[in-house]
Amino acid sequence: MSTDKRNIWVGAFVLVAVGLFLSRGADRIAETAPPRGPGLGHQVSLETAAAWDISIPPDGHNLPPGSGTVAAGEKLYLARCINCHGKRGRGLSAEELVGGVDGLTGDYPEKTVGSYWPYATTLFDYIRRAMPQDAPLSLTSDEIYALCAYLLFLNGVVAEADVMNAATLSAVEMPNREGFVRINEMAR
Ligand code: HEC
Repeated sequence: MSTDKRNIWVGAFVLVAVGLFLSRGADRIAETAPPRGPGLGHQVSLETAAAWDISIPPDGHNLPPGSGTVAAGEKLYLARCINCHGKRGRGLSAEELVGGVDGLTGDYPEKTVGSYWPYATTLFDYIRRAMPQDAPLSLTSDEIYALCAYLLFLNGVVAEADVMNAATLSAVEMPNREGFVRINEMAR
């Protein structure tokens, strides 16, 4: 047998041996740890599906019970938000949360919660699912209402004594509420 042929045989043997070794290892893993996956194909109960639905539409009808004051929101803001969003919602690395009103038509429009967002209820939805960015979904409903109250107060949209809950937050009129073109108006 030539050296080349022998090398091919030795190579093939090594490949098969390694293959057998790996597949035995895989069998062992499969025996000890059940495969983890997204669990597709399993029916979920209506209650489970309802618990996943945390979306808050503009009219706020899915808002949970609870309430929060501006003072409580300020305390939370100082503890959980200020490191990224800055003092009173401005001036650090993350989005400006306050100000920019009157600036949307200028050369450098500043889109903040106060200047741009059409619905206050979106604030609850957004903070609940995404903030603080380093610990999303960690805030209670009372805490989120308080943070909404504080940010809306800083934006001059609610008064310092106002309390936010499902009813009051849904009733807030944002300054840019009429600043969007509705789809049915676009068709005209
Ligand atoms: C670790 C940094 C960090 C922390 C802490 C943090 N945020 Fe944010 N936040 C961000 C970043 C970054 C964005 C922009 C995300 C994007 O545009 O995708 C953002 C966006 C937002 C927005 C949307 C602003 C807009 O106009 O789009 C809101 C509201 C907000 N944060 C509220 C909060 C509140 C309330 C807290 C405290 C509970 C908080 N954030 C804590 C980093 C942070």
